[in-house]
Amino acid sequence: MKENHIAFIMDGNGRWAQSRGMSRTRGHAAGVRSLEAIVQWSVDQSVPYLSFYAFSTENWKRPAREIRSIFRLMDTFFRRRIHTLIEKNVRILVSGDWMALPEASRNVAADTMRRTAHCTGTTVNLCINYGGQMELRRACALWAAQCQQTGDFSVPDEEEMRDLLYSGLPDVDLLIRTGGDSRISNFLLYQLAYAELFFLPVAWPDLRPEHVQKVLQQFAGRERRMGGLAPV
Ligand code: FPP
Repeated sequence: MKENHIAFIMDGNGRWAQSRGMSRTRGHAAGVRSLEAIVQWSVDQSVPYLSFYAFSTENWKRPAREIRSIFRLMDTFFRRRIHTLIEKNVRILVSGDWMALPEASRNVAADTMRRTAHCTGTTVNLCINYGGQMELRRACALWAAQCQQTGDFSVPDEEEMRDLLYSGLPDVDLLIRTGGDSRISNFLLYQLAYAELFFLPVAWPDLRPEHVQKVLQQFAGRERRMGGLAPV
């Protein structure tokens, strides 16, 4: 089965920087360069959907300085890369409660989404102030409001459920987490239901397209039964 949607947990930026005597901010800056290289490679491979965990609902626990630097890096990415994204036909989506971001970040994210909305190549879903549990709780609230309006209190079907989630993208086929830990960390809880999981010991700034290529080779060899039986 070909990969349609690849999701990334970009872990290990801080440790990568600290092990080199650099600030954590430098690690995140190197992380943005990795993200750009992976997007570029995926566009060349015509991967339809990519999701990146850029800032979680739990990341607010970090020092204010680090949070500010992450938002600044995102803003710079949006501002500097908008023309390349459009030229490469890349659609940017932002998932999460990103309206809670500082005004400048909100504006530049909204502007990037608007200006790439017509792009039909790779969709890049940036999860910012995102939490999987929050996404599901929000979906419940939206559905409850809809039920009250229509008087129909049935369980949402697959398509209705997708519309209740932030991005409505198809389920994830494979998840790659860098940084050595084997956890999902509240990422895309609904969409990962049948994803193949790959946990790599490399830090995110060291991830290269060749690593992803290797993972895809392993993915191609995995039998995805989706609850069914292996073909005889
Ligand atoms: C996790 O590594 C990384 C983050 C919490 C932030 C990742 C954000 C970026 C790479 C910037 C995103 C930019 C765009 C354009 C969306 P960590 O800091 O937890 O690493 P550690 O476990 O080594 O401390």
